[in-house]
Amino acid sequence: MRVLGIETSCDETAAAIVERDEAGNGRIVSNIVRSQFEEHAAYGGVVPELAARSHVSHLDGIIRRACDEAGLSLSDVDAIAATAGPGLIGGVLVGLTTAKAIAAALGKPLVAVNHLEGHALTARLTDRIAFPYLMLLVSGGHSQFALVRGVGQYERWGGTIDDALGEAFDKVAKLLGLGVPGGPHVERQALQGNPTRFAFPKPLLKEDRLDFSFSGLKTAVRLAAEQLAPLTDADVADICASFQRTVSTIVATRSTAALRRFSVELPDAASQLVVAGGVAANREIGDALRHAANAAGARLVVPPPALCTDNGAMVAWAGAERLALGSSDPMGFSAKARWPLDSADMRPGYAA
Ligand code: KG4
Ligand code: ZN
Repeated sequence: MRVLGIETSCDETAAAIVERDEAGNGRIVSNIVRSQFEEHAAYGGVVPELAARSHVSHLDGIIRRACDEAGLSLSDVDAIAATAGPGLIGGVLVGLTTAKAIAAALGKPLVAVNHLEGHALTARLTDRIAFPYLMLLVSGGHSQFALVRGVGQYERWGGTIDDALGEAFDKVAKLLGLGVPGGPHVERQALQGNPTRFAFPKPLLKEDRLDFSFSGLKTAVRLAAEQLAPLTDADVADICASFQRTVSTIVATRSTAALRRFSVELPDAASQLVVAGGVAANREIGDALRHAANAAGARLVVPPPALCTDNGAMVAWAGAERLALGSSDPMGFSAKARWPLDSADMRPGYAA
């Protein structure tokens, strides 16, 4: 089965064609991503209206490139999948409406994909991991643990009570005058810095819960920067290194606790931790997670960075996994700004 996937929920315009065989093995045939970050750079964050307009301008061309690179035409795909939420609603509408138009014109099924499910199932495409597994999603918009029991079967075990982890990286980068997106800039600076110079707080870490809080940490970084101003290059590097060390410790400590819960609740299942979302590209966080997983006797799966950040392949793949279960969606399916992974309508075949 061959599926076209469309992703427009934030600041990436993306389209991909993915194949899934009957045994459940996936293959990416083409995967085109156009980032808008330069269009939003002057504003220090994604401007929803600009993002939606840019998706309108570029999506057709990106879909054409995905077909060209695959050497296929639209009539060669079996279904059209698009992110239908959660995300910036203007952008989601652009992708979902385009998908509906293509599906209607070609008489092919539509799959309305939850963006978080796209992240959650990517490791099955890249590493053929079997259910169940624990997922840690750390992106610009989300930070959460979820138990993934099957397609559409998710239990949210914890989330952030304020900022997402990627958002914290982006805000720290912004207050230090680094570029966008912030994560890779902070990571580059951290390479030159002293990770123990600042003892930043680790909010919530002493509490027995699987939630995150990053806004107090971000404030502590701002106060440290204000006290030292004007900052030398060494100060900036030390702040980045100390911030990154702090969040690595937080994420690893929480993951250890989540893996403990996994082995208690699913004593017969192999312990597996999948990391998804843009922040999974961070090497220090990856190393800290590898450590935590090793200590817990768990398998750690981190998809390659290009498939951790937003892309069309994850949407096409989630669409293929749903179709394989006989699930597609009506043309009247509405775009959703908010759409938690554990909502009832995530079950394949659920009829509202
Ligand atoms: O998954 P993603 O592409 O988009 C969302 O769905 O949010 O994640 C983007 C986020 C941004 O906040 C970006 O700063 C962060 O991932 N990020 C990183 C790194 N690369 C991207 N954070 C830390 N270290 C990185 N190397
Ligand atoms: Zn994402």
